[in-house]
Amino acid sequence: MLSSEVVRLINEQINQEFYSAYLYLSFSNYYKEEGLDGFGNWYYIQAQEERDHAIQFLNYLHDNGENVTLREIKAPDVVLDSYLAPLEAGLKHERLVTGLIHRIYDAAHLSKDYRTMQFLDWFVKEQGEEEKNAEDLVKKFQLFGSDPKSLYMMDQNLGARTSAPSES
Ligand code: FEO
Repeated sequence: MLSSEVVRLINEQINQEFYSAYLYLSFSNYYKEEGLDGFGNWYYIQAQEERDHAIQFLNYLHDNGENVTLREIKAPDVVLDSYLAPLEAGLKHERLVTGLIHRIYDAAHLSKDYRTMQFLDWFVKEQGEEEKNAEDLVKKFQLFGSDPKSLYMMDQNLGARTSAPSES
């Protein structure tokens, strides 16, 4: 049985992951509307992954006999006024999410909930990868984004991303 605090935090996390999906969908829309379809594709797939994360948390609660409470998802609130803005906001957001995952981990540890700790291990690793990807995007854009030819190449590369099934 999960502690009420772990259940509360996982329910919050479901909402956060759906918000992440919403946020990245807004980035995807922005880039597509600006003609950078590759960047748009990258964030479209990222949004799908975030939705998968939400479902993983949702299923975990059900698998453990707990109730899911779906709450209102807030609107994306990042000002998209430059090609760099979503990349920097994405990195900041992933760092925030890492903190939220660690907070659930702390609560699970406190109640000796080894099952939830093991379930969260996948997310701890995933956050490391997501922060690295977000950092790479910022760095690459800072290096190459001001040159139209390089920006075109970067857009082509990001356009090649395809969705990968989640594991957990
Ligand atoms: Fe679900 Fe990008 O973390």
